[in-house]
Amino acid sequence: MGKVWIEEISDGLYVLRVDDDQTKYFEAMWDIPEGITYNAYLMKTGDAVVLFDAWKKTYEKEFIEALSSIVDPKEITHIVVHHMEPDHSGALPKVLELNGYKAQILGTTFVEKLIEAFYGIKVNFRPVKDGEEIKIGEKTFRFIHVPWLHWPDTMITYVIEDGIFFGGDVCGGYSIPPALFDDDEEVVQNYLPHVRKYIINVIGHYKKYIHQNIEKIKSFNLDLKLIAPAHGLIWRKNPAKIIEFYEQVGRGIPTKGKVLVVYSSMYGFVEKAVSVAVDEVKKLGYNPVVYKFTDTERANISDILGDVPDSEAIIIGTATYEADIFPMMRFTLDEILDKANYEKPVLVLTTFGWGGIAGKKIESLFSKTKFNVIETMEIKGLLQKGLEKKVREGVGKLLGIK
Ligand code: FEO
Repeated sequence: MGKVWIEEISDGLYVLRVDDDQTKYFEAMWDIPEGITYNAYLMKTGDAVVLFDAWKKTYEKEFIEALSSIVDPKEITHIVVHHMEPDHSGALPKVLELNGYKAQILGTTFVEKLIEAFYGIKVNFRPVKDGEEIKIGEKTFRFIHVPWLHWPDTMITYVIEDGIFFGGDVCGGYSIPPALFDDDEEVVQNYLPHVRKYIINVIGHYKKYIHQNIEKIKSFNLDLKLIAPAHGLIWRKNPAKIIEFYEQVGRGIPTKGKVLVVYSSMYGFVEKAVSVAVDEVKKLGYNPVVYKFTDTERANISDILGDVPDSEAIIIGTATYEADIFPMMRFTLDEILDKANYEKPVLVLTTFGWGGIAGKKIESLFSKTKFNVIETMEIKGLLQKGLEKKVREGVGKLLGIK
């Protein structure tokens, strides 16, 4: 059981965070050895007690204990639901039961239907319109709909008097940061790669909405003093940084010199070709980030996805397998093309025994995307000495050097 954090982070505002080190596969899919946190918030303002989101049901007991250490759940007057995915709503039914179902639930119209669908309960629901401002206690809450970050139900809340932005999934990330806040630059730098991975794993399919919604948020000219997301670090030292980072990931802004290399190799033939390519990448002064599927190693597809957005170029290596792309690579490519579809150059290296199929299939897959396949090499068996030069030339073309 991970740590539970309960802290008053500004006057009358509390964070309730649990560090989930038990979930191995987020959404039963994405490897997260780094863990994840669920952050809920409680605000006492005038006569009102407002809860923002909850935790996953796994931590229901711990959530009720944490909440009850600040306030009797009966006293909660409002619950703002930013997003109904059960990693944030799982503990809500218990809160409502203890509350006597009196609290008014605020959310987009989707929320009422989803609460009933997921938990079979009817609630005192107040739908909020996009951009609507509602006075609660002594504060003014502005609700901004941000559909598809992560579901169509998703919204954020901005507290006008305090410049506080409750983001739900927006501005969140994977991992269990060793602090609540972004105060320490080293903590931030260690955390950001997990944010990139989270964005692509979880909302990559809806990537175009990242830019749209960030533009929308910016159009409100919010005076952001604190960004309080439902996962990961809270941003108070530099709130603009996480907004900018989301935008960069959405646009696929590269880190200088980063080349992503992903390959599968059953018996070392692909590995030989890829090792020449990697050697050339290094010789040309670039930094290869390598993932492989072999008989001794299996990359996490979730990590691979996280390294696509900021790569300058990508090298794919695979064998033909049963007249198709090697299955692990085919699944990896499907996910990359669906969730991390960017305008980036790609070099494809494939090997075959008696018939080269994988290269053509990969080209066909990529032809429907933003990626640009610079060259596809289909190699019969082991890369022979004479072909090394061709692989090195392919890398040069990929990087726009030769
Ligand atoms: Fe953190 Fe989409 O739930």
